This record gives sequence, C-alpha cells and structure tokens, in this order.
Amino acid sequence: MVILTGAGISAESGLGTFRDEGGLWAQHRIEDVATPEGFARDPDLVHRFYNARRAQAAAARPNPAHQALARLQAQHKGEVVIVTQNVDGLHEAGGAQAVLHMHGTLAGALCAACGHRWPAPLAMRTGIACPACAAPAGRPDVVWFGEIPYFMEEIFAHLAAADVFAAIGTSGEVYPAAAFVDEAHLAGARTVELNLQPSAAASRFAERRFGPASETVPAWVAELLG
Ligand code: APR
Repeated sequence: MVILTGAGISAESGLGTFRDEGGLWAQHRIEDVATPEGFARDPDLVHRFYNARRAQAAAARPNPAHQALARLQAQHKGEVVIVTQNVDGLHEAGGAQAVLHMHGTLAGALCAACGHRWPAPLAMRTGIACPACAAPAGRPDVVWFGEIPYFMEEIFAHLAAADVFAAIGTSGEVYPAAAFVDEAHLAGARTVELNLQPSAAASRFAERRFGPASETVPAWVAELLG
C-alpha cells in the first residue's frame, strides 16, 4: 500500500496549505522563496520564509489523521509506505515509521557546495558554514521547483507493486506526485482520494472521500483494520 500525503493532512495541525484561500502561495511568490534562482537572488528572504515554517512546524502537533496512518503502518508492518510532499515532520511525530520525504524536510540543512546534509538549526542564516566542507553554502534541505524530488526510483518501485494507493490532502496540481495515481492504476491498485474537496486529479481515482482529514482518515483506517 502506498499513501501519498500533501499539505491538507497537516492543515488541522495548524500548518497552512499552499493553494487554499490565503495559502502560502497567496502570501509569497514561488519564484522568490521556492526556487534555486530565488535563493541565489535573496538567500535572506528564503531563510526567513523557511525559519518561520520551521518554527510553526516545531510548535505543531500531529492530528488524528497522522496518528491513524501510524496505526495502519504498525498493524501492517512493512506493507504501508507513506510518501509525503510535506516537509513538516508530523508523520514521524504521529508515530509513522516508513516515511519518504520526496520534498525533503524543514529539519534538514543541505550544503549547496558539497551536498552534505546535517540537522538544521531552528533558524538558518545566509552563509551558514557546512560542517563537512566549511563552505558558507548551507540551505534548507527542501526540494524547490525545478529540482528533482527525492526517492523517485524507490517510490515508482512501490507504486508498481501497490495493491492500494491513497492520496490524502493534496491538490493534485504538482507533478510527479500528481501522476502517482496513474502509475498505481497501471499496477492494478485500488485508488482512493481523501480530500476536503475534489482535487485536480479526483476523476482519476476509483473512490473519493471528502471531508477533513482528521475525520476521513481515521474512518478509512478503521475500515481497513476491520
Ligand atoms: N483535510 C483534508 N484535505 C484538506 C484539508 C483538510 N483539513 N485542508 C485542505 N485540504 C486539501 C485542499 O482541498 C487541497 O486540495 O489539501 C490540498 C492542499 O493542496 P496544496 O495547498 O496544493 O498542497 P499540496 O498538494 O501538498 O502541494 C503540493 O506543491 O508548492 C508545492 O512543494 C509544495 O509540497 C507542495 C506541493
């Protein structure tokens, strides 16, 4: 089973989504805070954006949706992979074990010079030195637009063997994640979307359940666990 999650699963933990009314992309320009070019142009702005999100994520608590997925993983050891587009770390805080962070995590820092990764301080600043190569090239270890998401080979291998594919709290607007449902269909998997409202990919799912994740996900997991 492969479960893809997006910002909507963390909305009820108080973390903003991107494309809902007043979301992050209504407050900030993607090209300024979520591209390598934006970081090169104004690293201070980018660090301020991610420092604020890192502080919010540190103060946020997992909600019943995160906890329900952790229960599902615990009951079906090794058979439930969570692929998240989120960088907030709430799946692990809710008890999940196998989480593939395809867009990286706020908890990570990355050296733009040598590729070294280390735990990010709560507040990163421009010119932060890499502990490995000492270059003043530290950046948030998140995947920006125009960069290649992490774990893609592993994710496609899981999709090729999936019996069930669920997408939770994602608008289906960003690729390659928005095409995972098609890969799952090719593998003959049952597909279900759990979202507040129909996503852009809704019509490509065999089943759709609408409502807040903190209600729909525990109900769905309870059915699966019987
Ligand atoms: N319960 C369930 N779904 C919800 C809830 C909720 N409480 N609140 C919002 N949603 C749904 C919205 O209806 C929307 O379809 O979550 C989705 C959030 O969509 P986006 O804001 O586009 O977030 P996401 O799909 O995760 O974005 C994907 O885009 O900008 C990039 O890197 C960023 O990882 C992000 C990617």
